[in-house]
Amino acid sequence: MSETNAIVSRRSFCLGACHATAAAALATLFTACGSKDSASSSPSAPSSTPTDLAVLSGVFTGSAVQVAAAGSPLTDVGGAALVNSIAGPFLVARTSAAAFTAVEAVCTHEGCTVTGTDGSTYVCPCHGSRYSRSGQVVMGPATASLRQHATTFTDGVVSIAF
Ligand code: FES
Repeated sequence: MSETNAIVSRRSFCLGACHATAAAALATLFTACGSKDSASSSPSAPSSTPTDLAVLSGVFTGSAVQVAAAGSPLTDVGGAALVNSIAGPFLVARTSAAAFTAVEAVCTHEGCTVTGTDGSTYVCPCHGSRYSRSGQVVMGPATASLRQHATTFTDGVVSIAF
């Protein structure tokens, strides 16, 4: 082997070794990126499957919708229900012994009635938007909050004010 051939041969060997090292490093990098991408998408996924809210009938009095808490999920703190009335559907939740939240149940995304619950969130059955008990968007596609109404609680009856 001539000296020129030996130099070319060493140069070819070094180039090949560098390419192999670079390919291995890139493979490691892409694998790490792939893992990070799949891990980062998990937290936005819903934690569990929503269940249907109990449905109650509300009575419209002209200035409020009234619903009895007795015998319904509204007897327990943390309980929630869908209250239908001629004034529209409402989502009502008991937040303490004498306090309730009431929000309109018409989803601000495309107008479906919100009928599900998961933990302390309301869940729209159409595209999965989630709202807090006070109506704020927790997860889209909805971007606007549900309209909240003031409530009072007297003699076991929740009144949703207009
Ligand atoms: S209508 Fe409720 S998420 Fe689309």
